[in-house]
Amino acid sequence: MADPIESPATRAVEALVNALPDPVFVVGADMRVAAVNPATGRLLPALRKNDLLVRGLRAPEVLDAIARVFKTGQAQSTVWLDRFPIERHFEIHLAPAQFGANRVCVVALRDVTESRRIERMRSDFVANASHELRTPLASVLGFIETLQGPAKNDEAAREKFLGIMADQARRMARLVGDLLSLSRIEQNLHIRPSAAIDLRAIAAQIVDGLRTLADESGVELRLASGPAVVVLGDRDELLRLAENLIENAVKYGAPSPVDVTVEVRDGQGALIVADHGPGIAAEHLPRLTERFYRVDAGASRAKGGTGLGLALVKHIVARHRGRLTIESELGKGATFTVLLPLAPQTM
Ligand SMILES: Nc1ncnc2c1ncn2[C@@H]1O[C@H](COP(=O)(O)OP(=O)(O)OP(=O)(O)O)[C@@H](O)[C@H]1O
Ligand SMILES: [Mg+2]
Repeated sequence: MADPIESPATRAVEALVNALPDPVFVVGADMRVAAVNPATGRLLPALRKNDLLVRGLRAPEVLDAIARVFKTGQAQSTVWLDRFPIERHFEIHLAPAQFGANRVCVVALRDVTESRRIERMRSDFVANASHELRTPLASVLGFIETLQGPAKNDEAAREKFLGIMADQARRMARLVGDLLSLSRIEQNLHIRPSAAIDLRAIAAQIVDGLRTLADESGVELRLASGPAVVVLGDRDELLRLAENLIENAVKYGAPSPVDVTVEVRDGQGALIVADHGPGIAAEHLPRLTERFYRVDAGASRAKGGTGLGLALVKHIVARHRGRLTIESELGKGATFTVLLPLAPQTM
């Protein structure tokens, strides 16, 4: 029998395997490793050429699949969950091959950890969105039944229930609107906005619009005066962005004053929204811009929030090739800073 390690066929297969970017290794019928490429070496450092496979790979499902390949002469596939040092999922494809005078099994591994994570995020997202819609929908249906039945002729109850139903319907409409905006911005993420927009005018328009809410919440809303700061942007999106940040500061920072500043900082247009309210604990900061993430879901919902505001802000900033930073400490308020590229003529 030809020596599988030294024959020209062995060297050829080894060269081929080494050229592949994904982890691939070759096992002989004696269950010894005949070739390991560098990607496999990084993944399974204990797997060494000429060693028995079981010494370097403690994965019964993979060993079984290799045995099946030799027994049936048919290609096989399997999945393998590696738990150490971190959890990783692999799809493994195994195929028989003639390797010089020897029969071998070629094993290719595909790391599907990331695609599984995205898959899970997608299903979480659908679950979250349905959940957010189900609650107001159930409430509207409940009131309709009450109005059709027990409260049919109750003038006062009708007025009250219709008011609640209108609120709930508006809430659902807002949720759907936000979801549509998110997906639209996501679709256009690669198209950079190109209009020259004065960030100061944007901030002024939103501050004016939120004046009533601020007064009702006892919040002093201050916009520092200064010259125009013209950035490359999409007007509607920048209005959404400013509205979400300033509205959050008023809603969650009340009754502390809110300071809105527009200036040129580090050669970029900056919108800074600072409140002096309860702030946000450090452990929440990294997740704040996730869809539906709320520090206190009950409190946010009571204020009509859906937890999509900062997700929208993040997407808008990304599309504008800008940067969002959030600084906060419990009890010391929160500062949201958005940096956006200036329009060329103002640089
Ligand atoms: N200035 C702030 N101070 C304290 N907490 C804040 C502040 N801004 C945001 N948060 C927290 O971050 C969470 C997420 O904010 P986001 O704007 O994404 O959602 P929301 O305001 O709850 O809902 P929506 O924006 O859809 O009305 C809020 O629920 C709140 O807990
Ligand atoms: Mg918000």
